Amino acid sequence: MDRKEFLESIAMAAGVGIVLSFLQSCKAVAYIPHVIEGEKIVVKKSDLAEHPYVVIQPAGLPAPVYLCRLENGEYSALLLQCTHRGCELRPVGRELHCPCHGSVFDKTGEVLESPAELPLRRFSVLSDDQNIYIF
Ligand code: FES
Repeated sequence: MDRKEFLESIAMAAGVGIVLSFLQSCKAVAYIPHVIEGEKIVVKKSDLAEHPYVVIQPAGLPAPVYLCRLENGEYSALLLQCTHRGCELRPVGRELHCPCHGSVFDKTGEVLESPAELPLRRFSVLSDDQNIYIF
C-alpha cells in the first residue's frame, strides 16, 4: 500500500465512523407513556422491552427522564438535565450528550467528558412483574 492508498483508507474509515455516529444520533428516541401514582412515575415494563432505553416526560420536572435497563438487571433513571449549566441532554446510543458545551454522561449518570463535573440526578427505581416505579 502506497502513501496515497493509505491516506484514502484512513479517510474512508473516518467517513464510515462519521456516518455511523450520525446514524446513531438520528435514531428515534422512544418516548413512552406514564402515570403518576402519588410521588412515583409508573411505566409499564412491556413499554421498555423493545428499546435499549426510553424517555419519559413527566410534568413538573425541569427535563425528561431517561430510563434504561442495566446489565445487572437493575434500572437506571436519570434526569436529562446537564449538571454544567442545565441544558437538556440527548441520548446517543448508550451515552447522554449535552448539545451546549459537549459534556457526555454514561447510562448511570457518571460524567465521561467535561465541562460538567457532577453526575446527573438519579432517581430511585423499583419494579414488580408489570411496572417500573421511579421516584
Ligand atoms: S450545559 Fe451541558 S456542558 Fe454546559
